[in-house]
Amino acid sequence: MDLGLAGKSVIVTGGASHIGRAIALSFAREGSNVVIADIDEVQAQKVASQANTLGGGGKTIVTRTDVTDQREVEAMVGRASDEFGRIDVLVNNVGWVLDCLFLDQPREDWEKTVNLNLWSVIYCMRAVLPHMIENGYGRVVSISSEAGRVGEYREAVYATCKAGVIGLTKSLAREVGRYGITLNAVCPAVTLPTSEEEMGEFSLWKEGLKIFTPEAAEKASKRYPLRRLGKAEDTANAVLFLASDVASYITGQSLSVSGGWSMI
Ligand SMILES: NC(=O)c1ccc[n+]([C@@H]2O[C@H](COP(=O)([O-])OP(=O)(O)OC[C@H]3O[C@@H](n4cnc5c(N)ncnc54)[C@H](O)[C@@H]3O)[C@@H](O)[C@H]2O)c1
Repeated sequence: MDLGLAGKSVIVTGGASHIGRAIALSFAREGSNVVIADIDEVQAQKVASQANTLGGGGKTIVTRTDVTDQREVEAMVGRASDEFGRIDVLVNNVGWVLDCLFLDQPREDWEKTVNLNLWSVIYCMRAVLPHMIENGYGRVVSISSEAGRVGEYREAVYATCKAGVIGLTKSLAREVGRYGITLNAVCPAVTLPTSEEEMGEFSLWKEGLKIFTPEAAEKASKRYPLRRLGKAEDTANAVLFLASDVASYITGQSLSVSGGWSMI
């Protein structure tokens, strides 16, 4: 199936590592022009180099961006528009979670969680939507989480933010659908990197994989109907579908990509 993504101009936040990296590479493979907006410039450049050798026909660039800073987000969107002439797709992928009981979590960690998982998405939506409205076309896919749909033990504030991403997605889908813009959310459950090259300095899996040993991952997978944990490509495939014109009549939805972890 031709997804019609060749030549489309795509922003992927957090595209340097793991799920964001897989998303950026998948768009590049389809021939899209990709902007990787990440704080990890070194790792992002490695992904861009790889993307530019895939032969898709598009161009991938890096804009070092802290998505918790509204001015940096606006500058990044301006550069993306200057470089590629328009912005067709925004993928809000940056996120962060601390495994901690709510009552033990200090305020600074709540703030970091809200900044990275919610404010960043609000800033990116705010910066990109005027461009999409002007062009009469746009696709926004935000990476939420199963935690935002059904809650998760030791992830209370993160789950709150991810539910917020779904609420923002649905509300804006109602506001801007008339301009040919769709917004959807993808909700992974546990999704593990499979190699060192997928993880930059700021990937939470640098530490997270110490907890998710192969034995722990094997045990956890038994709680999933499909009996395996997620791969970055599982989420990337769903994102590409929702960003494509094949999905042009789908908006305001949250799609679980989680091996059946939740079925709501
Ligand atoms: N991996 C999972 O198990 C899982 C499950 C459910 C949802 N998710 C969601 O999927 C998304 C991607 O998760 P992941 O596991 O690939 O994360 P990751 O930690 O491996 O990668 C995050 C990326 O974001 C970048 N980043 C961090 N702070 C930034 C900032 N302030 N500005 C710009 N870039 C920044 C990092 O450099 C890194 O490249 C997140 O929204 C996460 O909440 C992941």
